[in-house]
Amino acid sequence: MTTTIRPEAPSDEEAIEQVTRRAFLSHPYSHQTEQFIIRALRADHALSVSLVAEEAGRVVGHIALSPVSISDGAVGWYGLGPISVEPEWQGRGIGRALMERGLAELSRIGANGCVLVGDPAFYTRFGFANSPALVLEGVPPEFFLALSLDTAAAHGSVQFHPAFQATR
Ligand SMILES: CC(C)(COP(=O)(O)OP(=O)(O)OC[C@H]1O[C@@H](n2cnc3c(N)ncnc32)[C@H](O)[C@@H]1OP(=O)(O)O)[C@@H](O)C(=O)NCCC(=O)NCCS
Repeated sequence: MTTTIRPEAPSDEEAIEQVTRRAFLSHPYSHQTEQFIIRALRADHALSVSLVAEEAGRVVGHIALSPVSISDGAVGWYGLGPISVEPEWQGRGIGRALMERGLAELSRIGANGCVLVGDPAFYTRFGFANSPALVLEGVPPEFFLALSLDTAAAHGSVQFHPAFQATR
C-alpha cells in the first residue's frame, strides 16, 4: 500500500466532505456535522493544517487542525479534528499516517501544543494524555486530551474555533 499524505488542494473539498461524512456516519458521539465544521473552518481561513490521504489518486482520509484559544493567553495551541478515514480503508495505518504527519506539520509551523476531544484508546499512542491543567467546558476530562509540543505549559479553559458550532 502506498498512501500519499499531502496538503489539501481546492479540488479536494468535495471528496474531503464525503470521506468525513461517511467516516462519522456510525460514530456513537457524532452529530454528523463534522463535514460542515471543516467547511466553516476553511471559509474562516482557520484550517491551519488540512491534509488528505490519497490511495491511487483517490482521497480516502483527512485531518484538520485549527487554532484554539486558552484562557491564560497561551499562544500557538491547536485543536486536532475532525480526522477521518473512509470506512473500507480503516485499520490499514492511514489514520496513523495522518496523525503523524499532522503533528509533524504542527511542529513545523512552531506550534506549542495540541488538544482534541476523542477516544483515549486511539490518541494516547500518539502522546496525547489527559491534562488536568486544561479543561474544555462540557466535555468529560477523560475525553479531552492534550499534547505539549514545547516546554511552555498552558493552563485554563480551552475554546475551539467558532466553526465547531457549524451545523450546515
Ligand atoms: C479513528 C480513525 C481516524 C483511525 O484511522 P485508521 O486508519 O483506521 O487507523 P490506523 O489503521 O492507522 O490505526 C492506528 C492504530 O490505532 C488503532 N486504532 C484504530 N482505530 C482505533 C479506535 N477507534 N480505537 C482504538 N484504537 C484504534 C489501530 O489498531 C492501530 O494500532 P497499532 O498502531 O497498534 O497497530 C478511523 O477509524 C475513523 O475515521 N473513524 C471514524 C471517525 C472517527 O472516529 N474519528 C475520530 C473521532 S474521535
